[in-house]
Amino acid sequence: MFQMKQMSHLDHAPSTPGKFKMEKSYSRLRWHSFTKLTFWSFVFIGLIYILFYRSPSSSPSSTVNPLPSDLSRRSLRTSSWGGPDWEKRVRASSRIRSRNGMSVLVTGAAGFVGTHVSAALKRRGDGVVGLDNFNDYYDPSLKRDRQALLERAGVFIVEGDINDVDLLKKLFEVVRFSHVMHLAAQAGVRYAMQNPGSYVHSNIAGFVNLLEVCKEANPQPAIVWASSSSVYGLNTKVPFSEKDRTDQPASLYAATKKAGEEIAHTYNHIYGLSLTGLRFFTVYGPWGRPDMAYFFFTRDMLKGKSIPIFEAANHGTVARDFTYIDDIVKGCLASLDTAEKSTGSGGKKKGPAQLRVFNLGNTSPVPVTDLVSSLERLLKVKAKRNIMKLPRNGDVQFTHANISLAQRELGYKPSTDLHAGLKKFVRWYLSYYSAGGKKADAR
Ligand SMILES: NC(=O)c1ccc[n+]([C@@H]2O[C@H](COP(=O)([O-])OP(=O)(O)OC[C@H]3O[C@@H](n4cnc5c(N)ncnc54)[C@H](O)[C@@H]3O)[C@@H](O)[C@H]2O)c1
Repeated sequence: MFQMKQMSHLDHAPSTPGKFKMEKSYSRLRWHSFTKLTFWSFVFIGLIYILFYRSPSSSPSSTVNPLPSDLSRRSLRTSSWGGPDWEKRVRASSRIRSRNGMSVLVTGAAGFVGTHVSAALKRRGDGVVGLDNFNDYYDPSLKRDRQALLERAGVFIVEGDINDVDLLKKLFEVVRFSHVMHLAAQAGVRYAMQNPGSYVHSNIAGFVNLLEVCKEANPQPAIVWASSSSVYGLNTKVPFSEKDRTDQPASLYAATKKAGEEIAHTYNHIYGLSLTGLRFFTVYGPWGRPDMAYFFFTRDMLKGKSIPIFEAANHGTVARDFTYIDDIVKGCLASLDTAEKSTGSGGKKKGPAQLRVFNLGNTSPVPVTDLVSSLERLLKVKAKRNIMKLPRNGDVQFTHANISLAQRELGYKPSTDLHAGLKKFVRWYLSYYSAGGKKADAR
Protein backbone atom coordinates (compact mmCIF):
# COMPACT_ATOMS: atom_id res chain seq x y z
CA MET A 1 0.00 0.00 0.00
CA PHE A 2 2.78 2.31 0.94
CA GLN A 3 4.65 1.26 -2.14
CA MET A 4 1.64 1.98 -4.29
CA LYS A 5 1.22 5.38 -2.78
CA GLN A 6 4.85 6.12 -3.38
CA MET A 7 4.53 5.04 -6.98
CA SER A 8 1.50 7.16 -7.65
CA HIS A 9 3.32 10.04 -6.06
CA LEU A 10 6.20 9.50 -8.41
CA ASP A 11 3.82 9.30 -11.36
CA HIS A 12 2.13 12.62 -10.72
CA ALA A 13 4.42 14.80 -8.66
CA PRO A 14 7.18 16.40 -10.65
CA SER A 15 10.24 15.98 -8.46
CA THR A 16 13.38 17.70 -9.55
CA PRO A 17 15.53 14.70 -10.45
CA GLY A 18 12.57 12.95 -12.01
CA LYS A 19 11.57 15.97 -14.03
CA PHE A 20 14.79 16.02 -15.95
CA LYS A 21 14.54 12.31 -16.60
CA MET A 22 10.95 12.55 -17.71
CA GLU A 23 11.61 15.41 -20.15
CA LYS A 24 14.52 13.56 -21.64
CA SER A 25 12.48 10.43 -22.29
CA TYR A 26 9.59 12.51 -23.58
CA SER A 27 11.78 14.33 -26.07
CA ARG A 28 13.34 11.02 -27.04
CA LEU A 29 9.83 9.73 -27.63
CA ARG A 30 9.00 12.77 -29.74
CA TRP A 31 12.23 12.39 -31.71
CA HIS A 32 11.49 8.70 -32.21
CA SER A 33 7.97 9.48 -33.50
CA PHE A 34 9.38 12.15 -35.78
CA THR A 35 11.94 9.80 -37.39
CA LYS A 36 9.28 7.11 -37.67
CA LEU A 37 6.94 9.56 -39.39
CA THR A 38 9.70 10.71 -41.75
CA PHE A 39 10.61 7.11 -42.56
CA TRP A 40 7.02 6.10 -43.39
CA SER A 41 6.50 9.31 -45.37
CA PHE A 42 9.49 8.34 -47.52
CA VAL A 43 8.14 4.82 -47.93
CA PHE A 44 4.74 6.20 -48.91
CA ILE A 45 6.16 8.70 -51.41
CA GLY A 46 8.39 5.94 -52.79
CA LEU A 47 5.40 3.67 -53.32
CA ILE A 48 3.44 6.44 -55.04
CA TYR A 49 6.45 7.02 -57.30
CA ILE A 50 6.70 3.33 -58.19
CA LEU A 51 2.98 2.99 -58.86
CA PHE A 52 2.53 6.06 -61.01
CA TYR A 53 5.83 6.53 -62.77
CA ARG A 54 7.35 3.10 -62.99
CA SER A 55 4.37 1.02 -63.99
CA PRO A 56 4.04 0.05 -67.66
CA SER A 57 0.43 1.14 -67.70
CA SER A 58 -1.39 3.99 -66.14
CA SER A 59 -3.23 1.64 -63.84
CA PRO A 60 -1.12 -0.41 -61.45
CA SER A 61 -3.81 -3.01 -60.97
CA SER A 62 -3.87 -3.67 -64.67
CA THR A 63 -0.47 -5.26 -64.98
CA VAL A 64 0.05 -8.95 -64.62
CA ASN A 65 3.65 -8.54 -63.57
CA PRO A 66 4.78 -5.21 -62.20
CA LEU A 67 8.49 -5.75 -62.44
CA PRO A 68 10.49 -5.18 -59.29
CA SER A 69 13.32 -3.17 -60.79
CA ASP A 70 14.16 -1.25 -63.92
CA LEU A 71 13.58 -4.24 -66.13
CA SER A 72 11.52 -2.72 -68.87
CA ARG A 73 12.68 0.85 -69.04
CA ARG A 74 11.56 1.48 -72.58
CA SER A 75 7.92 0.49 -72.26
CA LEU A 76 7.08 2.33 -69.09
CA ARG A 77 5.64 5.47 -70.52
CA THR A 78 1.94 5.85 -69.96
CA SER A 79 -0.35 5.84 -72.94
CA SER A 80 -3.55 7.70 -73.46
CA TRP A 81 -6.43 5.72 -74.85
CA GLY A 82 -10.19 5.65 -74.55
CA GLY A 83 -12.96 8.10 -75.19
CA PRO A 84 -15.57 8.30 -77.96
CA ASP A 85 -13.18 9.52 -80.68
CA TRP A 86 -10.67 6.82 -79.89
CA GLU A 87 -13.40 4.13 -79.98
CA LYS A 88 -14.65 5.49 -83.28
CA ARG A 89 -11.18 5.17 -84.80
CA VAL A 90 -10.81 1.63 -83.45
CA ARG A 91 -14.20 0.61 -84.90
CA ALA A 92 -13.48 2.21 -88.28
CA SER A 93 -10.12 0.47 -88.52
CA SER A 94 -11.65 -2.90 -87.65
CA ARG A 95 -14.36 -2.69 -90.32
CA ILE A 96 -14.33 -5.72 -92.65
CA ARG A 97 -14.64 -4.87 -96.33
CA SER A 98 -14.56 -8.29 -97.96
CA ARG A 99 -16.81 -11.32 -97.88
CA ASN A 100 -15.52 -13.84 -95.31
CA GLY A 101 -13.05 -11.25 -94.06
CA MET A 102 -11.73 -11.35 -90.50
CA SER A 103 -11.19 -8.75 -87.83
CA VAL A 104 -7.62 -8.93 -86.61
CA LEU A 105 -5.83 -7.34 -83.69
CA VAL A 106 -2.18 -7.01 -84.75
CA THR A 107 0.18 -6.47 -81.83
CA GLY A 108 3.57 -4.96 -82.69
CA ALA A 109 1.94 -3.29 -85.70
CA ALA A 110 4.50 -0.48 -85.84
CA GLY A 111 7.26 -3.08 -86.04
CA PHE A 112 8.86 -4.42 -89.20
CA VAL A 113 6.76 -7.57 -89.70
CA GLY A 114 3.67 -6.04 -88.07
CA THR A 115 3.53 -3.18 -90.57
CA HIS A 116 3.76 -5.48 -93.57
CA VAL A 117 1.21 -7.96 -92.20
CA SER A 118 -1.25 -5.19 -91.24
CA ALA A 119 -0.99 -3.57 -94.68
CA ALA A 120 -1.49 -6.90 -96.46
CA LEU A 121 -4.57 -7.78 -94.36
CA LYS A 122 -6.08 -4.35 -94.96
CA ARG A 123 -5.39 -4.58 -98.70
CA ARG A 124 -7.44 -7.75 -99.02
CA GLY A 125 -10.37 -6.30 -97.04
CA ASP A 126 -9.87 -7.58 -93.51
CA GLY A 127 -10.50 -5.37 -90.50
CA VAL A 128 -7.23 -4.50 -88.74
CA VAL A 129 -6.47 -2.72 -85.49
CA GLY A 130 -2.82 -2.30 -84.52
CA LEU A 131 -1.31 -2.10 -81.05
CA ASP A 132 2.24 -1.00 -80.27
CA ASN A 133 4.08 0.68 -77.41
CA PHE A 134 6.56 2.43 -79.76
CA ASN A 135 9.50 1.64 -77.50
CA ASP A 136 12.97 2.92 -78.36
CA TYR A 137 14.83 -0.36 -78.76
CA TYR A 138 15.61 1.10 -82.18
CA ASP A 139 14.89 4.50 -83.72
CA PRO A 140 11.21 5.17 -82.83
CA SER A 141 10.91 7.61 -85.75
CA LEU A 142 11.08 4.59 -88.08
CA LYS A 143 8.09 3.15 -86.18
CA ARG A 144 6.28 6.49 -86.48
CA ASP A 145 6.87 6.50 -90.23
CA ARG A 146 5.51 2.96 -90.49
CA GLN A 147 2.53 4.15 -88.45
CA ALA A 148 1.94 6.99 -90.91
CA LEU A 149 2.12 4.49 -93.77
CA LEU A 150 -0.54 2.31 -92.14
CA GLU A 151 -2.64 5.33 -91.25
CA ARG A 152 -2.80 6.20 -94.96
CA ALA A 153 -3.92 2.61 -95.65
CA GLY A 154 -6.70 2.95 -93.07
CA VAL A 155 -5.09 1.07 -90.17
CA PHE A 156 -5.20 2.69 -86.76
CA ILE A 157 -2.42 1.74 -84.34
CA VAL A 158 -3.45 2.05 -80.71
CA GLU A 159 -0.53 3.21 -78.60
CA GLY A 160 -0.20 0.98 -75.56
CA ASP A 161 1.49 -1.98 -73.96
CA ILE A 162 0.37 -5.61 -74.16
CA ASN A 163 0.81 -5.70 -70.38
CA ASP A 164 -2.06 -3.24 -69.99
CA VAL A 165 -5.00 -5.53 -69.17
CA ASP A 166 -7.52 -2.69 -69.08
CA LEU A 167 -6.55 -1.55 -72.54
CA LEU A 168 -6.74 -5.08 -73.98
CA LYS A 169 -10.13 -5.67 -72.36
CA LYS A 170 -11.38 -2.38 -73.75
CA LEU A 171 -10.24 -3.33 -77.24
CA PHE A 172 -12.12 -6.63 -77.04
CA GLU A 173 -15.15 -4.77 -75.70
CA VAL A 174 -15.14 -2.41 -78.69
CA VAL A 175 -14.35 -5.06 -81.34
CA ARG A 176 -15.22 -8.77 -81.47
CA PHE A 177 -11.84 -9.76 -82.91
CA SER A 178 -11.98 -13.10 -84.67
CA HIS A 179 -8.15 -13.31 -84.81
CA VAL A 180 -5.08 -11.97 -83.06
CA MET A 181 -1.79 -11.71 -84.93
CA HIS A 182 0.65 -11.36 -82.06
CA LEU A 183 3.97 -9.90 -83.17
CA ALA A 184 4.81 -7.54 -80.29
CA ALA A 185 7.98 -8.69 -78.61
CA GLN A 186 11.41 -7.67 -77.50
CA ALA A 187 13.42 -8.87 -80.47
CA GLY A 188 17.20 -9.13 -80.91
CA VAL A 189 19.58 -11.66 -79.45
CA ARG A 190 22.46 -9.55 -78.10
CA TYR A 191 20.43 -6.85 -76.36
CA ALA A 192 19.32 -9.45 -73.82
CA MET A 193 22.66 -9.07 -72.07
CA GLN A 194 21.98 -5.37 -71.60
CA ASN A 195 18.30 -5.40 -70.70
CA PRO A 196 17.13 -8.92 -69.84
CA GLY A 197 14.01 -7.63 -68.11
CA SER A 198 12.58 -6.23 -71.33
CA TYR A 199 12.43 -9.78 -72.74
CA VAL A 200 10.59 -11.05 -69.67
CA HIS A 201 8.26 -8.03 -69.77
CA SER A 202 7.19 -8.30 -73.40
CA ASN A 203 7.79 -11.93 -74.40
CA ILE A 204 6.59 -13.66 -71.26
CA ALA A 205 4.49 -11.38 -69.02
CA GLY A 206 3.00 -9.56 -72.03
CA PHE A 207 2.16 -12.80 -73.81
CA VAL A 208 0.46 -14.24 -70.72
CA ASN A 209 -1.51 -11.00 -70.32
CA LEU A 210 -2.70 -11.18 -73.88
CA LEU A 211 -3.71 -14.83 -73.56
CA GLU A 212 -5.56 -14.10 -70.32
CA VAL A 213 -7.68 -11.48 -72.07
CA CYS A 214 -8.18 -13.67 -75.16
CA LYS A 215 -9.31 -16.61 -73.05
CA GLU A 216 -11.98 -14.43 -71.38
CA ALA A 217 -13.15 -12.85 -74.63
CA ASN A 218 -16.43 -13.91 -76.14
CA PRO A 219 -15.90 -15.16 -78.80
CA GLN A 220 -12.36 -16.27 -78.07
CA PRO A 221 -10.17 -15.27 -81.01
CA ALA A 222 -7.79 -17.64 -82.82
CA ILE A 223 -4.20 -16.55 -82.18
CA VAL A 224 -1.24 -16.67 -84.54
CA TRP A 225 1.99 -15.51 -82.93
CA ALA A 226 5.67 -15.12 -83.70
CA SER A 227 8.04 -17.58 -82.11
CA SER A 228 11.53 -17.76 -83.61
CA SER A 229 14.05 -20.03 -85.31
CA SER A 230 16.29 -19.23 -82.34
CA VAL A 231 14.44 -21.92 -80.34
CA TYR A 232 16.61 -24.48 -82.18
CA GLY A 233 19.55 -23.03 -80.26
CA LEU A 234 22.61 -25.24 -80.27
CA ASN A 235 21.06 -27.94 -82.49
CA THR A 236 23.47 -29.27 -85.08
CA LYS A 237 21.04 -31.46 -87.03
CA VAL A 238 20.02 -29.65 -90.21
CA PRO A 239 17.70 -28.59 -91.66
CA PHE A 240 15.78 -27.66 -88.51
CA SER A 241 12.46 -29.46 -88.34
CA GLU A 242 9.55 -28.74 -86.01
CA LYS A 243 10.09 -32.20 -84.53
CA ASP A 244 13.67 -31.42 -83.46
CA ARG A 245 14.63 -30.66 -79.88
CA THR A 246 14.32 -27.07 -78.73
CA ASP A 247 15.67 -27.32 -75.22
CA GLN A 248 19.11 -25.79 -75.75
CA PRO A 249 18.53 -22.06 -76.27
CA ALA A 250 21.67 -20.00 -76.84
CA SER A 251 20.19 -16.69 -75.69
CA LEU A 252 17.64 -15.32 -73.28
CA TYR A 253 15.63 -14.16 -76.30
CA ALA A 254 15.44 -17.77 -77.52
CA ALA A 255 14.53 -18.96 -74.03
CA THR A 256 11.62 -16.49 -73.84
CA LYS A 257 10.34 -17.63 -77.24
CA LYS A 258 10.60 -21.25 -76.17
CA ALA A 259 8.75 -20.33 -72.96
CA GLY A 260 6.10 -18.73 -75.20
CA GLU A 261 5.62 -22.05 -77.00
CA GLU A 262 5.09 -23.86 -73.68
CA ILE A 263 2.73 -21.12 -72.47
CA ALA A 264 0.78 -21.45 -75.73
CA HIS A 265 0.44 -25.18 -75.08
CA THR A 266 -0.98 -24.48 -71.61
CA TYR A 267 -3.60 -21.99 -72.79
CA ASN A 268 -4.61 -24.32 -75.59
CA HIS A 269 -4.89 -27.24 -73.19
CA ILE A 270 -6.76 -25.49 -70.37
CA TYR A 271 -8.87 -22.88 -72.14
CA GLY A 272 -9.35 -24.19 -75.68
CA LEU A 273 -7.55 -21.31 -77.37
CA SER A 274 -6.56 -21.98 -80.97
CA LEU A 275 -2.84 -21.18 -81.17
CA THR A 276 -0.35 -21.20 -84.04
CA GLY A 277 3.32 -20.38 -83.40
CA LEU A 278 5.49 -19.31 -86.32
CA ARG A 279 9.25 -19.79 -86.15
CA PHE A 280 10.55 -17.02 -88.41
CA PHE A 281 14.03 -17.37 -89.90
CA THR A 282 15.99 -14.05 -90.23
CA VAL A 283 13.42 -11.84 -91.91
CA TYR A 284 14.68 -8.94 -94.04
CA GLY A 285 13.31 -6.36 -96.45
CA PRO A 286 12.10 -2.75 -96.85
CA TRP A 287 11.12 -1.02 -93.59
CA GLY A 288 13.32 -3.55 -91.80
CA ARG A 289 14.93 -3.51 -88.40
CA PRO A 290 18.04 -1.36 -87.94
CA ASP A 291 19.54 -3.76 -85.38
CA MET A 292 19.85 -6.55 -87.97
CA ALA A 293 23.09 -7.19 -89.88
CA TYR A 294 21.82 -6.58 -93.45
CA PHE A 295 20.50 -3.20 -92.29
CA PHE A 296 23.47 -1.87 -90.34
CA PHE A 297 25.96 -3.34 -92.84
CA THR A 298 24.23 -1.21 -95.49
CA ARG A 299 24.37 1.88 -93.28
CA ASP A 300 28.01 1.39 -92.28
CA MET A 301 29.22 0.43 -95.75
CA LEU A 302 27.71 3.63 -97.14
CA LYS A 303 29.50 5.58 -94.42
CA GLY A 304 32.80 3.89 -95.23
CA LYS A 305 32.91 2.24 -91.80
CA SER A 306 34.17 -1.28 -91.26
CA ILE A 307 31.65 -4.05 -90.61
CA PRO A 308 32.11 -7.02 -88.26
CA ILE A 309 31.91 -10.40 -89.97
CA PHE A 310 31.77 -13.30 -87.59
CA GLU A 311 33.58 -16.53 -88.11
CA ALA A 312 32.96 -19.74 -86.16
CA ALA A 313 35.73 -21.91 -84.70
CA ASN A 314 38.31 -23.21 -87.25
CA HIS A 315 37.27 -20.50 -89.75
CA GLY A 316 33.77 -22.00 -89.85
CA THR A 317 31.19 -20.22 -91.96
CA VAL A 318 28.37 -18.34 -90.27
CA ALA A 319 25.21 -18.65 -92.37
CA ARG A 320 21.59 -17.62 -92.13
CA ASP A 321 18.40 -18.78 -93.79
CA PHE A 322 17.42 -15.23 -94.83
CA THR A 323 13.70 -14.97 -95.53
CA TYR A 324 12.18 -12.12 -97.51
CA ILE A 325 9.38 -10.19 -95.80
CA ASP A 326 6.77 -10.87 -98.52
CA ASP A 327 7.22 -14.62 -98.05
CA ILE A 328 6.81 -14.23 -94.28
CA VAL A 329 3.65 -12.16 -94.82
CA LYS A 330 2.20 -14.91 -97.03
CA GLY A 331 2.96 -17.45 -94.29
CA CYS A 332 1.28 -15.26 -91.66
CA LEU A 333 -1.85 -14.74 -93.75
CA ALA A 334 -2.07 -18.44 -94.60
CA SER A 335 -1.79 -19.25 -90.89
CA LEU A 336 -4.63 -16.87 -90.08
CA ASP A 337 -6.73 -18.28 -92.92
CA THR A 338 -6.26 -21.89 -91.82
CA ALA A 339 -6.58 -21.22 -88.07
CA GLU A 340 -9.55 -23.04 -86.61
CA LYS A 341 -11.83 -21.33 -84.13
CA SER A 342 -10.99 -21.42 -80.43
CA THR A 343 -13.34 -23.76 -78.61
CA GLY A 344 -13.77 -22.10 -75.24
CA SER A 345 -15.94 -19.28 -74.03
CA GLY A 346 -16.04 -17.19 -70.89
CA GLY A 347 -12.71 -18.65 -69.81
CA LYS A 348 -13.98 -22.27 -70.06
CA LYS A 349 -12.77 -24.89 -72.52
CA LYS A 350 -15.55 -26.59 -74.48
CA GLY A 351 -13.44 -29.02 -76.51
CA PRO A 352 -10.00 -29.67 -77.96
CA ALA A 353 -8.58 -26.78 -79.99
CA GLN A 354 -5.95 -26.44 -82.70
CA LEU A 355 -2.30 -26.11 -81.62
CA ARG A 356 0.33 -25.68 -84.34
CA VAL A 357 3.97 -24.69 -84.81
CA PHE A 358 5.51 -23.95 -88.23
CA ASN A 359 8.94 -23.04 -89.54
CA LEU A 360 8.77 -20.07 -91.90
CA GLY A 361 12.17 -19.90 -93.57
CA ASN A 362 13.65 -19.87 -97.04
CA THR A 363 15.36 -23.32 -96.94
CA SER A 364 18.61 -22.00 -98.39
CA PRO A 365 21.13 -20.73 -95.84
CA VAL A 366 23.53 -18.13 -97.20
CA PRO A 367 26.97 -17.39 -95.69
CA VAL A 368 27.12 -13.90 -94.21
CA THR A 369 30.11 -13.22 -96.49
CA ASP A 370 27.81 -13.74 -99.51
CA LEU A 371 25.31 -11.29 -98.02
CA VAL A 372 28.12 -8.72 -97.89
CA SER A 373 29.16 -9.44 -101.49
CA SER A 374 25.55 -8.91 -102.62
CA LEU A 375 25.39 -5.61 -100.76
CA GLU A 376 28.72 -4.54 -102.33
CA ARG A 377 27.28 -5.10 -105.79
CA LEU A 378 24.00 -3.34 -105.03
CA LEU A 379 25.52 -0.38 -103.20
CA LYS A 380 28.56 -0.20 -105.48
CA VAL A 381 30.73 0.12 -102.40
CA LYS A 382 33.60 -2.08 -101.25
CA ALA A 383 33.03 -3.26 -97.67
CA LYS A 384 35.76 -2.94 -95.08
CA ARG A 385 35.47 -6.41 -93.60
CA ASN A 386 36.53 -6.89 -90.02
CA ILE A 387 36.67 -10.64 -89.48
CA MET A 388 35.95 -11.54 -85.87
CA LYS A 389 35.38 -14.64 -83.79
CA LEU A 390 31.69 -15.38 -83.26
CA PRO A 391 31.09 -14.11 -79.72
CA ARG A 392 29.21 -16.26 -77.26
CA ASN A 393 26.44 -13.75 -76.71
CA GLY A 394 23.50 -15.56 -78.19
CA ASP A 395 24.25 -15.90 -81.91
CA VAL A 396 24.38 -19.37 -83.39
CA GLN A 397 26.59 -20.47 -86.29
CA PHE A 398 23.84 -21.21 -88.78
CA THR A 399 20.11 -21.55 -89.28
CA HIS A 400 18.41 -23.70 -91.90
CA ALA A 401 14.68 -24.32 -92.10
CA ASN A 402 12.88 -27.45 -93.13
CA ILE A 403 9.58 -25.98 -94.36
CA SER A 404 7.81 -29.12 -95.55
CA LEU A 405 5.15 -28.89 -92.82
CA ALA A 406 4.28 -25.27 -93.69
CA GLN A 407 4.32 -26.23 -97.38
CA ARG A 408 1.84 -29.03 -96.76
CA GLU A 409 -0.48 -27.30 -94.27
CA LEU A 410 -0.29 -23.65 -95.36
CA GLY A 411 0.74 -23.88 -99.00
CA TYR A 412 3.80 -21.85 -97.96
CA LYS A 413 6.33 -21.50 -100.75
CA PRO A 414 9.00 -18.80 -100.44
CA SER A 415 9.81 -17.24 -103.80
CA THR A 416 12.37 -14.48 -103.26
CA ASP A 417 16.07 -15.28 -103.20
CA LEU A 418 18.50 -13.21 -101.14
CA HIS A 419 19.91 -11.09 -103.94
CA ALA A 420 16.46 -10.19 -105.32
CA GLY A 421 15.20 -9.36 -101.83
CA LEU A 422 18.25 -7.27 -100.96
CA LYS A 423 17.77 -5.33 -104.18
CA LYS A 424 14.32 -4.28 -102.98
CA PHE A 425 15.68 -3.48 -99.52
CA VAL A 426 18.50 -1.32 -100.89
CA ARG A 427 16.11 0.56 -103.16
CA TRP A 428 13.89 1.33 -100.17
CA TYR A 429 16.84 2.20 -97.92
CA LEU A 430 18.31 4.70 -100.35
CA SER A 431 15.01 6.44 -101.01
CA TYR A 432 13.95 6.45 -97.33
CA TYR A 433 17.17 7.84 -95.93
CA SER A 434 17.89 10.29 -98.70
CA ALA A 435 14.36 11.55 -99.39
CA GLY A 436 13.17 12.64 -95.98
CA GLY A 437 16.66 13.62 -94.86
CA LYS A 438 16.39 10.74 -92.41
CA LYS A 439 19.39 9.75 -90.41
CA ALA A 440 20.38 6.13 -90.74
CA ASP A 441 21.91 6.14 -87.31
CA ALA A 442 19.60 3.74 -85.54
CA ARG A 443 21.13 1.08 -83.34
N1 LIG B 1 12.60 -10.07 -87.89
C1 LIG B 1 13.08 -11.29 -87.68
O1 LIG B 1 14.05 -11.70 -88.30
C2 LIG B 1 12.42 -12.20 -86.67
C3 LIG B 1 12.91 -13.50 -86.55
C4 LIG B 1 12.30 -14.36 -85.63
C5 LIG B 1 11.24 -13.94 -84.88
N2 LIG B 1 10.79 -12.65 -85.00
C6 LIG B 1 9.67 -12.24 -84.17
O2 LIG B 1 8.70 -11.63 -85.02
C7 LIG B 1 8.02 -10.60 -84.33
C8 LIG B 1 8.12 -9.30 -85.10
O3 LIG B 1 9.51 -8.98 -85.23
P1 LIG B 1 10.00 -7.64 -85.93
O4 LIG B 1 11.24 -7.98 -86.65
O5 LIG B 1 8.88 -7.00 -86.64
O6 LIG B 1 10.41 -6.79 -84.64
P2 LIG B 1 10.09 -5.26 -84.31
O7 LIG B 1 10.91 -4.94 -83.09
O8 LIG B 1 10.29 -4.42 -85.50
O9 LIG B 1 8.55 -5.29 -83.93
C9 LIG B 1 8.06 -5.56 -82.64
C10 LIG B 1 7.13 -4.41 -82.26
O10 LIG B 1 6.55 -4.73 -81.00
C11 LIG B 1 6.48 -3.57 -80.22
N3 LIG B 1 6.48 -4.00 -78.81
C12 LIG B 1 7.49 -4.59 -78.12
N4 LIG B 1 7.10 -4.84 -76.87
C13 LIG B 1 5.82 -4.41 -76.76
C14 LIG B 1 4.87 -4.39 -75.70
N5 LIG B 1 5.19 -4.86 -74.50
N6 LIG B 1 3.65 -3.87 -75.93
C15 LIG B 1 3.32 -3.38 -77.16
N7 LIG B 1 4.18 -3.36 -78.20
C16 LIG B 1 5.42 -3.87 -77.99
C17 LIG B 1 7.71 -2.77 -80.59
O11 LIG B 1 7.56 -1.39 -80.36
C18 LIG B 1 7.86 -3.09 -82.07
O12 LIG B 1 7.28 -2.08 -82.87
C19 LIG B 1 8.65 -10.56 -82.94
O13 LIG B 1 7.88 -11.35 -82.08
C20 LIG B 1 9.99 -11.19 -83.15
O14 LIG B 1 10.50 -11.75 -81.96
C21 LIG B 1 11.36 -11.79 -85.88
